[in-house]
Amino acid sequence: MKYFIGNWKMFGIPGSIKILDKINNFIGKDRKNNNKYKVSIAPPHTLLHYFAKNFKNKNISICAQNCFNKDYYGAHTGEVSAYMIKKIGLNQIIIGHSENRESGETDQVLSEKVFAALKNNLNIIFCIGESKIEKRKKITIKVLKKQISKAIKKKYNFNKILIAYEPVWSIGTGIVPKTSELSKTIISIKKFLNSKYKRKHNFKILYGGSVDNNSIKKFKQIRELDGFLIGGASKSSKKFIDIIKNYYK
Ligand code: PGA
Repeated sequence: MKYFIGNWKMFGIPGSIKILDKINNFIGKDRKNNNKYKVSIAPPHTLLHYFAKNFKNKNISICAQNCFNKDYYGAHTGEVSAYMIKKIGLNQIIIGHSENRESGETDQVLSEKVFAALKNNLNIIFCIGESKIEKRKKITIKVLKKQISKAIKKKYNFNKILIAYEPVWSIGTGIVPKTSELSKTIISIKKFLNSKYKRKHNFKILYGGSVDNNSIKKFKQIRELDGFLIGGASKSSKKFIDIIKNYYK
């Protein structure tokens, strides 16, 4: 099973639902391949309830982009808890996106978010990735291992966790890693997960960073990849559909 997950970030108004309608219709008609992949779209909080209601039992799942690190209710102005996300009918959440890490989410905060999300039975897309400087220093794997270790505990149900490897230098830049380099990194992450968590679990890893209808042709050669987290190109139904089409071409 492959995953195509769209991350809208700070984009979208109620009328943007037509983008989802088009993607949903495409999937419905894609009989040759639609049993091989799952599609989720992560709109901002303002649209979650509306989209979740409209896309219940459809071909697209709706995913949250983040939650607060404390669960349930509390005096936290502007925040939304994993409990509230679950209660509007959602099952999926992105945690640890580098844009949020950059604006102050620490490893500790992220570990609390993961805990809160799992407690509410949400599936997590946990983002990891090295910065340009870390890549230059050749400490990519070390950074990724730390990000994973700080947030993912041995006792967790790994069926609920997808890891999204997103090199920070590739997000929104049009610059993508070399196929061989990316393939190596993905294999290293999988090896690390299996050794650290001492389980024969088939960990799923997505790639994110400038995935579009062109770069997907390169990425599809990497067998170890289980899917993609797509930012910019997920805001257009055509671009998003073309990514899926080109993947299965
Ligand atoms: P991008 O964003 O596809 O626009 O590079 C990916 C992401 O931030 O998840």
